[in-house]
Formats: sequence, C-alpha cells, structure tokens
Amino acid sequence: MADRRICHPCASVLMAWVILFGATVLPGCGSLEVTRYYERGALATSAPIATEVGKQVLARGGNAFDAAVAVGFALAVVHPTAGNIGGGGFAVIREGATGQIRALDFRETAPGAAFETMYLDSTGSVVAGASTVGARAAGVPGTVAGLFELWQKHGTMPWEELVGMAAILADTGFIVDNSLADNISSYAAELRAFEPTARQFLPGGDPVRAGERLTQKDLAKTLFLIAAEGPNGFYTGKTAQRIEECMTAYGGLITADDLAGYKAVWREPVHFKFDSLDIYSMPPPSSGGLLIGQILKILEPFNFSGMTPKSPKYIHLFCEASRLAFADRSMHLADPDFYGVPVEVLLADSYIRTRRGMISGDHALLSSDVAPGDVAGQESDQTTHYSVCDSDGNMVAVTYTLNSSFGSLLVVDGAGFLLNNEMDDFSLKPGEPNIYGLIGDEANKIQPGKRMLSSMSPTLILKNGQPLMALGAPGGGKIITTVAQAIMSFSRFRLSPGETVTQARVHHQWLPDLLYLERGAFDIDVIQELIRLGHIVEEREPYSDLQLVYVGPDGLMTGASDPRGRGTSGGI
Ligand code: GLY
Repeated sequence: MADRRICHPCASVLMAWVILFGATVLPGCGSLEVTRYYERGALATSAPIATEVGKQVLARGGNAFDAAVAVGFALAVVHPTAGNIGGGGFAVIREGATGQIRALDFRETAPGAAFETMYLDSTGSVVAGASTVGARAAGVPGTVAGLFELWQKHGTMPWEELVGMAAILADTGFIVDNSLADNISSYAAELRAFEPTARQFLPGGDPVRAGERLTQKDLAKTLFLIAAEGPNGFYTGKTAQRIEECMTAYGGLITADDLAGYKAVWREPVHFKFDSLDIYSMPPPSSGGLLIGQILKILEPFNFSGMTPKSPKYIHLFCEASRLAFADRSMHLADPDFYGVPVEVLLADSYIRTRRGMISGDHALLSSDVAPGDVAGQESDQTTHYSVCDSDGNMVAVTYTLNSSFGSLLVVDGAGFLLNNEMDDFSLKPGEPNIYGLIGDEANKIQPGKRMLSSMSPTLILKNGQPLMALGAPGGGKIITTVAQAIMSFSRFRLSPGETVTQARVHHQWLPDLLYLERGAFDIDVIQELIRLGHIVEEREPYSDLQLVYVGPDGLMTGASDPRGRGTSGGI
C-alpha cells in the first residue's frame, strides 16, 4: 500500500448509501434521455445505479477520477455481465492540472503456468470451451490494481468511501431491472453449471427476476476487504486464498504468486490528428487505438459533403478502411512487452497512403485478396465502458470486461465475484478464429505473464488543447468501428452527442468477409447499392453500448448514453 492510509469505511457514510441505494433505487429504465448540461462534472455509464454513484461522488466534491473509481466498483455489483473485479481493462485519462494524457493498462495476464498449446488436444485441435468456460479460461485479474492506481495517482476522496459504496450495494442489495433479469435468465443453464455461481444469481434455484432484490453477501465481504486494505485485500490474504482454492477445485492455473505479482502499467496512448482534432486512444495490448487511427486516417482526405452516415458511398469507404485495418490486426498486434508492435509504421502517412490506394470507390475488395500490410480476434458484446469529465479539465474513459457475458461463468466460492475468460483473446492456434471470429497469429500466442490482445478502445478527443469528448463502447471488434464511426458522425457529419450515440452502425472486420448492418436501420436502396458495390451484406441485431461525455466550448458538459442499452448519463 502506498502513501495513503486505508481505514475501515465510516459507518455513517455507508448508512447513507444503504438509504440511497439499498432501499430506494428503482429498476433501470431504457434511456430516452433528455440532454442536460452540467457545470461541475458529467458521466455516462451502462447502468443507472452506477451513474447515480458517480453523480454522488461528484456532488461530494470528488473529481472525475474519484467518480471513475466508484463507478468501476459499483458496476461490478449492479452489472455483473461485464462490470467486474475478476476481469481487467484499460483507461485513457487526462489530468486537468498538467494537461498530461496517459493510458493505464490493467489487462489480465496469462498465469505463470500457461503455455502455448494449453487449449489444444493431442491432435492439435482447439478443445471447444476450454478457453471460455471455467477456471482454466481465466487470466490473472487486473481491475482492482487498475482502479487503485487511478485513485492513488489522481483521486482526492478516501479510497474506502469510494469502494465502500459498492460494498454496501452488494451487502444490502439492489432491485434488479428487466435488462439484468433477462441477461441472467438467458444464461441460466450456463450459470447453473457452477454451484457458487448458481447460489449467487439463481438463489433458490431460479434466476433472480426483475423487481426482486439481488444481494451478494460474499462479494460485499470481498469489497469491504478491498476498501479496508486496498489491492492487498484482493491480491493477497483471504481473497487470494479463495482464488487459489477455486483454481484447485476447478482445474485453473492462477497461483498466489501470479496474484501477488500482478501490476497495472502506464503506457503512452496512441495519438493521431484527424480533421482539427487530437485523438488519444488505447495502445497495445489493445488493437483499438491503432485501428481507429488507421481507419480515420485512411478516410480523412475523402470528401463526404452532401452525404450522411447512412450514405452507401460513405458506408462502402468506411468498411473498406476497416477491412484493411483488421487485416493488420491479425498479424501485427499483441502485448508490446512480448512482441515488437510496429505502431509508428502502421500509422505512418506513407503506409496509410499505400493502404488507401488499395480502395476503389466503385467496387468492394475481396478479403481473400487483402493481406496484412507488409511491415516488418474479437471480444464479446459483454464489455462495458464509462466516461467521466469534470470542470477541472480531468477526463477519464474506462473500458473493462470479463470478456464474454459473465466471463468464465465461475464465481469464486466465498469471494462472490466472477472470473474472466480472457484467455480466449489469445491466439489459441495461428489462423484459428476466436469465439468472435477474429483471427490471430504468432504475435498473440500464449506466453506466461503476457497480456492477450484486446479491441477495447477508451478514447479522448481534444480540440485546440481543450477537452472535447471522452468515449468508448463494448462490442468486441465492433468496439473499434463503433468508436471510429462515432468520431466520424460527430466530426464530419456534425451530429450532436445524443445523435452520435444513436446513429445506426455498420461493421467490417476483414474476416469473415461480411459487411454487418444494424438490423432495420438501413433502407433497401442503401442495402442494394452496397450489394451492387460487391459487399456481402448481413443484418445483425443492434449492438454495442456507446457512452460519451461532451465538453462544450463554454466548459459545460453533457453525457450521452446509448439508447440500445439500459445506461444513463448525468452530472452535477
Ligand atoms: N475481451 C475483449 C477485448 O479485450 O477485446
């Protein structure tokens, strides 16, 4: 524990939270949001209760970092499909006082005993489910170390108060909304397979229903330990012991040494200019920032005047740029501590010009004709993003995850939290698609202590050196195209923040060679023109859950939460 003293949560503060959230918070609603502008701070998250937690922190004088820490822990309680302490993620932040922008990497790592062929059978084939379900699918969690690092460097409120809010929520419970009840119910069979998981989410044998209170007593105990002891309350002592017991019981690889050795890492963000904006996003081990940079830089010289985000010509060019960027992802991206990712080369003007030159305005490329560029996977819909900005110029964009919904499906017995199944984001075998169809190669192979490649893309935008927007989204590889489209919609097509999160989405990830359109959002003329241009079009259910905060030139802030999800925005 560093330079700040951790003491037990103050009882009166926590009682206030019991009253606020334990007893009175209502089921989440969809988000037909009213746009409001705030002076002190604004945020957008994927769960209404988490947004309320963030607002309360701002109202008590906390800064954007304090709010981000409290929201991160609160989501672990009220959004268990993706919010977590058993997973990992990334943050891109701006410190208002200095203007410094940095990226925090709290991605999971492969356990020390992990090895390249650990998910292959004796014939060299990938064993179905081995990297996605149960203890062996889990990487060493990074979330607690990451949120602590954010607080230690930039927080102002007592740590125990910020974590204590989530502990109280877990202890006293909250009323389950329709969205969470549907999630739990649709995963009931899988959650039932592990006894500690079933006990937590199917109390009495049935999935917890909308309108019922969900209490998570074991999770509360773990959160109180973290509140009192900081990361030691997770990575050592009782919680670490519970994780080790879980590994022994269910055949996982994470050891006490793996946990004690986990470290969050500060990295230089990917920075590029687009139009008049400075964009900062997540560097490797995420592919997100680099691919967003490639897509936008490829598109930058095109003239889209007279078009809209639904024009076939724009969709065609956007998807061609995405196709090329995702081809590079398959070969050149991985944990930079293990593999020399050629970030500068992949974003260099000369390289971008070459890639742009492959695009025809008249006809789609074939992915089989597109290889990764000559220089030197995808995750689940169940990741979650939140954004917070404050009047001191602080900006925080956090994306974190368990990987797929409910991660490995395994709750650590006695500790009450789900473990991630992030090991599936490694390339299990060169050329083999992961559960979301993304292809990987040698660079992203499994190695002990290595971070698996990600698509998560927390992103900050500045204009003339001043905060403009914090944004990000869940959605696997679709995160990248969702964030890139949002920037195009806002910057080129002049959409408002609310319109930007609502805008219909398209996606292309090189392989499979399909252009995904959000179902029902594009009229038949658009679809026919895209087919005429040579695209193989597939309509998909609405996806992703964009959360952004916009800072106006007058310093007033507004949040926008994607209407596809149950999230909300708010502020003070
Ligand atoms: N597990 C999702 C990602 O990191 O991209």
